[in-house]
Amino acid sequence: MSWTPDSWRSFPAAQAPAYPNAGALSRVEQRLRASPPLTKAVDTLHLRALLAKVAAGRGFIVQGGDCAESFAEFGADKVRMTFNLLLQMGAMIGARGDQEVIHLARIAGQFAKPRSSPDETVEGVTWPSYRGDAVNGPAFDEKSRVPDPKRLLAAHRQAQVTIELLAAYSAASYADLPAIRRAAHARLGLRAPGGSDRPVATFTSHEALLLNYEEALTRFDQASESWLATSGHMIWLGDRTRQLDGAHVEFARGVGNAIGIKCGPSLAADDMLRLIERIDPENRPGRLVLIGRFGADKVAEHLPGLMRATRREGRHAIWSIDPMHGNTQSVGSLKTRLLSRITAEIGTFFDVAQAERVHPGGVHLEMTGADVTECLGGSLPTHEEDLPRRYLTHCDPRLNEGQAIDVAAMIAERMASGAQRSSDAA
Ligand code: PEP
Ligand code: CO
Repeated sequence: MSWTPDSWRSFPAAQAPAYPNAGALSRVEQRLRASPPLTKAVDTLHLRALLAKVAAGRGFIVQGGDCAESFAEFGADKVRMTFNLLLQMGAMIGARGDQEVIHLARIAGQFAKPRSSPDETVEGVTWPSYRGDAVNGPAFDEKSRVPDPKRLLAAHRQAQVTIELLAAYSAASYADLPAIRRAAHARLGLRAPGGSDRPVATFTSHEALLLNYEEALTRFDQASESWLATSGHMIWLGDRTRQLDGAHVEFARGVGNAIGIKCGPSLAADDMLRLIERIDPENRPGRLVLIGRFGADKVAEHLPGLMRATRREGRHAIWSIDPMHGNTQSVGSLKTRLLSRITAEIGTFFDVAQAERVHPGGVHLEMTGADVTECLGGSLPTHEEDLPRRYLTHCDPRLNEGQAIDVAAMIAERMASGAQRSSDAA
């Protein structure tokens, strides 16, 4: 099957915005095509190499950031806080030193959202649903909600600035690392670490939902002789855009980036294997990350069969867990998530991986370094009555800094007890 950056156009694209003006969209695509790539090929390939270590059982991916990035909330501080949070979590998860931690931000492209309904009706008035700042605006009026392709250019500019900021923070990170490592070790009750600190590389990732944008930023890399999506280092397919014969799978199979696939309760093992075969026919370690997202009450029913299937077929795809999207509930008019359900899903992920002899390779979180009140619980708990106080998300509820650190501590404990069990068994 031949592939070109635009071959997805002959396949049905789920969740595609209905742009009213095709000419305006194609002018935006031309401008994006003429722009320099957002990411460097060498970094995209470096991430693939690091993920190959994870596939071999020697690493763990900490992936996290906003559900939806927004134009209004953007600022250098916000990027720095996400970066610092990833660093703190990585220092805790890597504290025992037997796993390489891969820091993968959900940032610099996470501007588009799949929706369960194409329209929203309020008091008898119907407009298109909000689909993320790269598509339309959150306000409930015609001007905001009709998809505007010029928003792709604004998203692209914000992604560019974000990537520059991340590079600057990464380069300077060695200065803060000793203190971050000391704090991480102290939180886990471990002795202070020795050794030298080197800058931490942070990679970018987002759901590749808007294929006009993705195609326009796809470039041929002469060195690796491959097409690369230059919109981010890793891209993933959402639970609602992973149809085997859909446009998103067609696009993803042809670019050389690491590709994530969200795996929800509706994915059967044989369909998953067909997807893996389509996107990774050569079974290359570091190419695929399967991101389970079932919910605390469903994970034990669905994950064992899927993990058994990848193991039986000798697939190198990494298994990671998104404990956010299957655990959303409503309190009044607000969407929220209970930290206890989030940690329960992660715990079951580790249990199942151990039982199925599969490496637990990562976690995928919606989180922010800011002090928001969107998820419930934690060691400095957010209660139901606190929710409206700082409920800022544009889409799904995120962990705040303290809750994300609680999750990292829980993962560090699980990894330590897993390492202990395997050294006992040796
Ligand atoms: C998301 O990651 O924000 C998302 C929409 O996830 P999923 O595709 O798993 O529902
Ligand atoms: Co979300």
